[in-house]
Amino acid sequence: MSDDVIRVGVIGVGRGESFARGATETVGMKLVALCDTWEERLHEAGQRHGVSVYTEYQEFLEHDMDAVILANYFHQHAPFAIQALEAGKHVMSETASNTTLAEGVALCRAVERTGRVYMLAENYPYTVFNQEMRRVYRSGEIGEALYAEGEYNHPMAKDSRLRLAPGVNHWRNWIPSTYYCTHALAPLVTITETMPVRVNALSIACPEVNRGTTRRGDPGSVILCRMDNGAVFRLMGLGLPGHSNWYRVHGTQGAMEITRGPGYFGPGQVRVWHDEWHMQPGWVRDRVYTPEWPEHGDLAEQAGHGGGDFWTNLHFAQAIRSGEQPFLNVYRGVAMSSVGILAWKSALQEGAPMEMPDWTNEASRAAYADDHWSPWPEHAGPGQPPSSILGRLEPEPEALEHARRVWAEMGYRGE
Ligand SMILES: NC(=O)c1ccc[n+]([C@@H]2O[C@H](COP(=O)([O-])OP(=O)(O)OC[C@H]3O[C@@H](n4cnc5c(N)ncnc54)[C@H](O)[C@@H]3O)[C@@H](O)[C@H]2O)c1
Repeated sequence: MSDDVIRVGVIGVGRGESFARGATETVGMKLVALCDTWEERLHEAGQRHGVSVYTEYQEFLEHDMDAVILANYFHQHAPFAIQALEAGKHVMSETASNTTLAEGVALCRAVERTGRVYMLAENYPYTVFNQEMRRVYRSGEIGEALYAEGEYNHPMAKDSRLRLAPGVNHWRNWIPSTYYCTHALAPLVTITETMPVRVNALSIACPEVNRGTTRRGDPGSVILCRMDNGAVFRLMGLGLPGHSNWYRVHGTQGAMEITRGPGYFGPGQVRVWHDEWHMQPGWVRDRVYTPEWPEHGDLAEQAGHGGGDFWTNLHFAQAIRSGEQPFLNVYRGVAMSSVGILAWKSALQEGAPMEMPDWTNEASRAAYADDHWSPWPEHAGPGQPPSSILGRLEPEPEALEHARRVWAEMGYRGE
């Protein structure tokens, strides 16, 4: 164990701002550098934090620091992670860890080769509700998981969506409906400590929902995961009308869920219930309550995403100090991200089952080392998939014209 402060650099000053703010003394971190290609935003952020700024990632990696947090584009995390690991840095990566199976193989190998800490910055397992469901599950009260549901469905107003997706080929304009699945899945994996072994999915296309935007992906999907204990998990997302974020687990002795209701991270409560024939001495048949943080409640309350943004920084710092990989390690990160990829392969075949390799095992994962199947425009070529089940879509000219005005207003100068 070392008590030295961990010097950290962040790439991407959009979402990255939350990590930059969270790199505090309390978690034993200090922000020392920022990197972004959007110079105006980068310099503003650099001044706000009083740290060095870089537009070139290679130069940024040469800065004297221990760890790098990746909040660059969603579909570019793996190559940036591998470069940072090779440069001797510990890495915490925004979701997704990888957006091709080949990247997943390369990332697992890089973490094993370098021995650096790698963590997927999944913040949804850390809400007070999901931490409480993990505690209840580990107490054994609902038994072994048989079925679970996770929903992360985040529709947005058209102009808000455009502002978050500057550029015709921005990843948010292309992302297939299954790829952003880790917010729905990671809490369930963290609660039950199970891993997905097979995936089926159906995608929901609806030009009406996309109308007026530059989005070419389908707005929604349902994914089924067979887990390594035989359970089935159902995931739902991503941008269907009606914002919802919700989790539920049924076990061999009872069930638990976050109660549904208005609001994003609240005012939900946790409900744990049993059928009468499963009751054991000391159990309550059906209880609904507001959970408490296990610790650090005051600090978590101040952080974004229901406290999750505090916990990811804390657990990353703790992993570096202890030298032990965190729970959300490279194998779980790659497996959960690969659910999105395999689900898209499945959705394009109207639900065919897809096998998940064992990412901890070189013999199992090696078969995917050259699987560069990818929906992203920069990987376009023969055999590459569209990002809608309706095929390759183009935005309507009026929507594109409007989008370009919105992007120009916010200072975006690209295509
Ligand atoms: N966990 C959460 O709650 C949460 C919330 C929002 C976003 N995210 C994730 O954070 C990541 C970033 O998302 P975002 O919302 O900030 O939008 P974004 O993807 O548009 O922002 C990425 C930033 O990285 C910069 N960038 C891209 N390529 C670069 C390069 N080669 N060198 C330097 N800088 C580069 C861009 O200029 C931009 O400022 C995504 O993976 C997203 O999924 C997670």
